[in-house]
Amino acid sequence: MERGDLAEHPAKAVIVNLFEGVKSPGGGTGAVDKALDGAISQLIAEGETKGKKAELTLVHTLGKLPTPRVLVVGLGKQADFNLDVVRDVTGTALRRCRAAGASTAATIVHGAGIAGLDAEACAQAIAEGAVMGLYRFDRLKKPDKDQKRIESVTLVERDESKLDTLKRGVQRGRVLGEAVNHARDMANEPANLFTPSVMAERAQALAKDAGLECQVLEQAEMEKMGMGALLGVAVGSVQPPKFIILRHRGDRGGKETIGLLGKGITFDSGGISIKPAAGMEEMKGDMSGGAAVIAALWALAKLKAPVNVTGLVPTTENMPSGSATKPGDVLKAMNGKTIEVINTDAEGRLILADAICYARKEKLSPIVDVATLTGAMQIALGPAATGFMATDDALAEAVVKAGESAGERMWRFPLIDEYREGLKSQVADIKNTGNRYGGAISAAKFLHYFAEDSRWVHIDMAPTDNFDKDKGAWVKGASGIPTRTLVGLVLSLAGKRA
Ligand code: BES
Ligand code: MN
Ligand code: ZN
Repeated sequence: MERGDLAEHPAKAVIVNLFEGVKSPGGGTGAVDKALDGAISQLIAEGETKGKKAELTLVHTLGKLPTPRVLVVGLGKQADFNLDVVRDVTGTALRRCRAAGASTAATIVHGAGIAGLDAEACAQAIAEGAVMGLYRFDRLKKPDKDQKRIESVTLVERDESKLDTLKRGVQRGRVLGEAVNHARDMANEPANLFTPSVMAERAQALAKDAGLECQVLEQAEMEKMGMGALLGVAVGSVQPPKFIILRHRGDRGGKETIGLLGKGITFDSGGISIKPAAGMEEMKGDMSGGAAVIAALWALAKLKAPVNVTGLVPTTENMPSGSATKPGDVLKAMNGKTIEVINTDAEGRLILADAICYARKEKLSPIVDVATLTGAMQIALGPAATGFMATDDALAEAVVKAGESAGERMWRFPLIDEYREGLKSQVADIKNTGNRYGGAISAAKFLHYFAEDSRWVHIDMAPTDNFDKDKGAWVKGASGIPTRTLVGLVLSLAGKRA
């Protein structure tokens, strides 16, 4: 963030913007256009640049400006403009600058001018879009000698009096964007390099960095606590399970502690009810819920959020082997309830059952669990929304609102009591799978049996854990959803600024 004039900035690329339908640009874009002897207005007059959302026009400055290139990014129609557009065009524009070989970029604060959005929120969205949009997971690739990389992005503002506000937004957006990237880093790792032990080490390292308390329960402790559902999944793997606990106490006087619970299956083969080969590699991301929880706790600590929150991440592999749990086996969860395992591929609900029992024992409230739980939810929603269930309307509304401000659409599904019927077992208190139809809801009803009368939200992020292409602030691979929604939700539940 710095004070100055974009037309005088020496960055290797300067980004200006344009609303759809504008014939002669004003503001920062106008100043750059003037310095370019009207090159941008000419492109508009020729109909080559229209300002459509995420449209990109690269103009070489031929020495007329200190920067070698100007990128004109379309903001779309002014009536449709919002913070999601700001976040997305920032990501798209910066990837284009990187592809052009620019090592530094400077941009104006899209939206804070004529569009009249809140300036701090705009700066936050730009920082999020930059940090999230430029993310790559290339740790395991041969280093590319002339790999193109953007070293710095500068926000330029002429008005000195706005700088402090904008800086606050940038700071916050940077933390939230980095949190998303921490979640992505975990989910993108292959399962051989990201075992439950490595996940626990990563949680410890991030906890240390942000000043969180971190405790990791070992198998012997889980046995002592009676976490038979989690252990029933872990017995098929040679990798020892871990139960990660993170604590952020930002409100020492407060009595309530919110619980964030995340599914941490570092690889889901399906177990004895093994999955088909096609696409099985995607199941390295079956710990995305746990990753989002760890990342959200990291962000809340970094932001010094005045709230109390505890993160619980049960983590294990789900593997077939001579020691694996078999269909028909009965497990006993931490609260003493017995579970008949019909399908060993419905393992997420098993490990979360014990996590929910632990959360209830610790009196965490509300309890919010996040999991790549069902293919059924993915079929229902597709990649544009994450599904969730909630025990009351106020809680549900808070989830929708937090998702909206994060640009992560959250869609409520019903908890239909009738579907509990399908989970009745001949031999145990409940079985782990019910009817095929409404599979996402019966999975939630299984968890509901353990959540009992708690205030509870269940987020099934199977639709959005991974994207197949770059789009705006989102990049191909692990999405890092719903990290920012969780942060916003925790702050709003505690009555703090979302
Ligand atoms: N991890 C999967 C769900 C999943 C599927 C996540 C696709 C992301 C993308 C989960 O453990 C699972 O296998 N669920 C089964 C449940 C079934 C056996 C009742 C499913 O959805 O098929
Ligand atoms: Mn499974
Ligand atoms: Zn799974």
